[in-house]
Amino acid sequence: MDNFPAIALGTWSWGSGFAGGDQVFGNHLSAADMQAVFAAAIKAGLNLWDTAAVYGMGTSEAALGELVRQYPREDLILSTKFTPQIADAHSSTPVADMLEASCERLGTEHIDIYWVHNPTRVNQWTGELIGLLESGRIKRVGVSNHSLEQIRQVNSTLTEAGFRLSAVQNHYSLLYRASEDTGILDYCRENGMAFFAYMVLEQGALSGRYHPQNPMPEGSSRAASYNKVLPQLQNLTDALQAIGNTHGASTAQIAIAWALAKGTIPLIGATKVHHVEDAAQAAKVRLSAAAVSTLEAAATATGVDTRGSWEQVME
Ligand SMILES: NC(=O)c1ccc[n+]([C@@H]2O[C@H](COP(=O)([O-])OP(=O)(O)OC[C@H]3O[C@@H](n4cnc5c(N)ncnc54)[C@H](OP(=O)(O)O)[C@@H]3O)[C@@H](O)[C@H]2O)c1
Repeated sequence: MDNFPAIALGTWSWGSGFAGGDQVFGNHLSAADMQAVFAAAIKAGLNLWDTAAVYGMGTSEAALGELVRQYPREDLILSTKFTPQIADAHSSTPVADMLEASCERLGTEHIDIYWVHNPTRVNQWTGELIGLLESGRIKRVGVSNHSLEQIRQVNSTLTEAGFRLSAVQNHYSLLYRASEDTGILDYCRENGMAFFAYMVLEQGALSGRYHPQNPMPEGSSRAASYNKVLPQLQNLTDALQAIGNTHGASTAQIAIAWALAKGTIPLIGATKVHHVEDAAQAAKVRLSAAAVSTLEAAATATGVDTRGSWEQVME
């Protein structure tokens, strides 16, 4: 298995415009805000940054790139994605084209983990990815939002070419455990692949900050997804807080510690300095098996399904 940090940081909540931080999260981050978050992450030893060309149509990558340029490249692990839906249908090299544009925005010659964002035309891109691995333009390949069968398919093609699938990035939180239920976590463990758990905090719904009297920012897509279920989540966030009290940790930190206890790398969206500091501290919290069971029972009892509109039903 690759030697990744315990926690990865994500920048979907940065940038603006289509699928950007303003529309999805209701955020308006300044350059100074992002600079402070990035510097705090470096200080806390968190150096793996995830983004995607599609987040704010390049604006998340561009914002991250401004910061990447200020630090030695070898100190950072950069993770970005090929999104089939925005590929140039007329190009004979759609993956290389999208990668090239990402590298320019990020101010880098290579990407450490390059992901296929979703299984549209599953395994159709693997041949081109193999060429990019051979040239060194990408160091590792990962797949996101893929089912177990789809993961196996891509890994098998890579293995035949002398490479391997390095990582899987799927939605995985207390409220959404499809990757565990369908055997993806076990497969990753058995095959030495890292599993990056995204939306561990359900975009803030499991942070304890939001409740019916303090809903998510009006007009954002996260508000549309979560505000209606906030009353149902109260018992779960209370349980997170109660366990947090025994560890001197916050609600959000216990949700992160749960994902760590399940053997995953939590990929946390960070927009404030305390987000990265909390995440780094959460890596030190060891939850007991009893605490994990209590949290999972409380999560199941909510009856809330948080599968994203972009996610397939996992079978
Ligand atoms: N591959 C995919 O299809 C896919 C899909 C989704 C996400 N991702 C990746 O995963 C990353 C994380 O997902 P996400 O950002 O959507 O959701 P998330 O990590 O579940 O939630 C992030 C939000 O939670 C709040 N938060 C973070 N740390 C906190 C703390 N310590 N205390 C209290 N609140 C805290 C912040 O919101 P507020 O402070 O504004 O409340 C933050 O914007 C993304 O940035 C992206 O890199 C990938």
